[in-house]
Amino acid sequence: MKKMLSLLLALVCLCLPLMAAAEEPITIDNIRSLVVGVDDPVEVKPGLTRPIINFDNAATTPALRPVVDEVNAKLLTYGSIGRGFSAKSNISTEIYEKTRDKVLHFTGASPDKYTVFYVNNTTDGLNKLASALITSKEDTVLCTRMEHHANDLSWRERCNVIYAEIARDGRIDYDEIEKKLKENKVKLVAVTAASNVTGYVTDVHRVAKLAHRYGAQIVVDGAQIVAHRAFSMKGATPEEDIDFFVFSAHKMYSPFGGGAVVGLTEELDKHMPAFYGGGMIKIVADNWVTWASAPKLYEAGSPNYPGVVGLGKAIEILEQVGFDAISAHEQALIRRLMDGLKKMDNIVIYGDSENISDRVGVVTFNFNDANSLLVAQRIANQGGATRRGAFCAHPYVWRLMNIPDDQLEWYVECTDGKTPGMIRVSFGIYNTEAEVDEFLGMVAEAVRSVRAKEDWDDLYEDFSESY
Ligand SMILES: Cc1ncc(COP(=O)(O)O)c(C=O)c1O
Repeated sequence: MKKMLSLLLALVCLCLPLMAAAEEPITIDNIRSLVVGVDDPVEVKPGLTRPIINFDNAATTPALRPVVDEVNAKLLTYGSIGRGFSAKSNISTEIYEKTRDKVLHFTGASPDKYTVFYVNNTTDGLNKLASALITSKEDTVLCTRMEHHANDLSWRERCNVIYAEIARDGRIDYDEIEKKLKENKVKLVAVTAASNVTGYVTDVHRVAKLAHRYGAQIVVDGAQIVAHRAFSMKGATPEEDIDFFVFSAHKMYSPFGGGAVVGLTEELDKHMPAFYGGGMIKIVADNWVTWASAPKLYEAGSPNYPGVVGLGKAIEILEQVGFDAISAHEQALIRRLMDGLKKMDNIVIYGDSENISDRVGVVTFNFNDANSLLVAQRIANQGGATRRGAFCAHPYVWRLMNIPDDQLEWYVECTDGKTPGMIRVSFGIYNTEAEVDEFLGMVAEAVRSVRAKEDWDDLYEDFSESY
């Protein structure tokens, strides 16, 4: 009997670590429990402390616990990247380099054709690319009127930029892109993969095909796609392949800075960014320099190691959850929110609210009779997080709001509330239908309170004429 008992004990001891190692897979249904701080109460106003309903994920996403744990774990062996002589330096350098393979895999990019270089965020990546790829003020870049300022001004300030108008429903107009390509000698087409204002997803492979047909290359701003839809550099045919892709890690649950550019190795090696320092050279003499090749050429200075580790882990988790599940979940949330909003008086929902299959989880709206800044403030006071304004995509927002260019100068010196804007809801993978329902109640209460001029300040009189 004693022998049997000790055998059983030995068996249990043997199995326990195995059982612990077999962790529950991460899915769309259990991801919320892994989001740092999501259910922690915060003081939203004096006297009200509660968890926030965070519908501001297009701006930035909260951290995932496994991402934070991975960064902390990898800091135990942190050493200088690519520069040190030590075991820790070697370990860190290997992780740093191997994460490039994860990014290549995540973006369907072949290592034979593409190189990954790390950046601080999408803005940094687009500016680095622009500083490298634009070689003359006379170069022509074709943008769309849907672009975030990062994918507009980074070109506008360096060369000749022309724009493809958007379609009436706010979508990308592919015929307009082709027309502009036909009429001009375009070097690059710079287009967003998904809009941060309407969530419209661009068929970037269709744009790539058009760009290549007319001898241009394509740069895709991936900031709003990476946490929402599967993305591949590879199209159905080689003409549809993407040439450059840029994205930020903080929009995919890794808030340690960082992001990446995936680009054609051959092109990256032909150019260099206007950004100089250590790590990007072979030899520097008194009067001459020999430059390293990509990716080093694009990574001057000491790298952001936690950013890279976090990015690698975030990719792993998103791939595990799966983009089909993420997309289906988001579609359900958009539908529920739009259905609820449509029942409200004087509501304006921007973009197509019937056919939403080409929208990631972004919904923008206004009320004809209530200023959006005041409504957003009152939603925040109840514990709802949105964003209000023109979302760093002014030309697109003014178009959606029908505000002509010649009226804009008037707004330059205005206070925030008089500057027109919309309210934006943007979903993350962890948001729930119950949150949407509660949020709709907050919106209704906020609008009621603005219409009733509750807690009114004289200053607000100024706001009443505008959105
Ligand atoms: C479509 C789009 N592009 C670019 C950016 C800039 O990203 P980041 O602020 O991470 O540089 C954003 C940020 O909101 C965005 O939504």
